[in-house]
Amino acid sequence: MREGTPTVHDQAGELRRIVQTRRKIIKGLSGLRSIAVLSGKGGVGKSNIAVNLAMAFASSGKRVVLLDADLGMANVDLLCGISPKYTLAHLVKGQRTVEDVLVSLENGVLLLPGGPGVQELAELDDDAQSLLIDKLSVLEGVADILLIDTGAGIHKNTLSFGVAADMTVLITTPEPTSIRDAYGVLKTLAINTGSKIDVTLVVNMAASHSEGREVAERIQMAANQFLSLSVPFGGTVLLDESVGKAVRMRTPFFLASPSCQASMDIAEIAANLASMDDETEPPTGRGVKSFFFRLARNLGLGG
Ligand SMILES: Nc1ncnc2c1ncn2[C@@H]1O[C@H](COP(=O)(O)OP(=O)(O)OP(=O)(O)O)[C@@H](O)[C@H]1O
Ligand SMILES: [Mg+2]
Repeated sequence: MREGTPTVHDQAGELRRIVQTRRKIIKGLSGLRSIAVLSGKGGVGKSNIAVNLAMAFASSGKRVVLLDADLGMANVDLLCGISPKYTLAHLVKGQRTVEDVLVSLENGVLLLPGGPGVQELAELDDDAQSLLIDKLSVLEGVADILLIDTGAGIHKNTLSFGVAADMTVLITTPEPTSIRDAYGVLKTLAINTGSKIDVTLVVNMAASHSEGREVAERIQMAANQFLSLSVPFGGTVLLDESVGKAVRMRTPFFLASPSCQASMDIAEIAANLASMDDETEPPTGRGVKSFFFRLARNLGLGG
């Protein structure tokens, strides 16, 4: 744990106070927007983009909860230099409260470590699921955005996050294998939702912004032609050595090197995603409860 980082125990009391105060103010509102970060191929930068987008949203005044939903290795902890004591699994088992599980990151971002709890959510019976989702609804009072970092590959549970979220950010690099696998995710999402899905493309590790745009245009054309899906382009993050340096420092690059190219790109993508939100009418059922209900219903999608 980084020096000066408050302990998980200290944070729990502080978070409980925040949650209780905000719960009173926000009661009844359900403006929270869920955004899932997905890719076909692994290692394309999902966790880095999720963590740094969270920081960028927070810098522009949005309250963010970051859900680390990688079912295997937890990624966000490593990128942020923290070691959470509890995960969603403790909440699912009724051993801890939401406030106990949430961890404060920099910029006021709250981390909800998911880990094995995501799978356990799928295994609960209906009553237990409803009870858990009721508990999770306190997030409504502490966040405007629930940003979800998912695991690698076309895993059935990973895709469920794409189906359940209000918006999916699909990450690819310019590599042909990454583009092919991103298209595979688009296809599965389109099939499972009757093409009623809000996906935004982000190209990572491109050599130039024009290369990023060309990659996006190729995917957009195929999605339009074969899947009847219109896929907006959220932007490009260039290949930038500051990213690797920040990973080694276990600090989000948006904080370690705020003026590096990758940070500027992330800020632009965050602004693009926010403006897309302004343009779109909120679908019925937005909010944390609807998200987790849709997720529970969809976990296991794709066999
Ligand atoms: N824009 C970038 N420039 C340079 N390096 C990058 C960039 N984005 C990501 N990386 C590097 O790529 C590696 C993989 O990134 P990351 O862990 O975020 O990918 P991921 O998609 O979350 O992987 P996984 O599928 O295993 O969860 C990291 O080592 C990171 O430093
Ligand atoms: Mg990852």
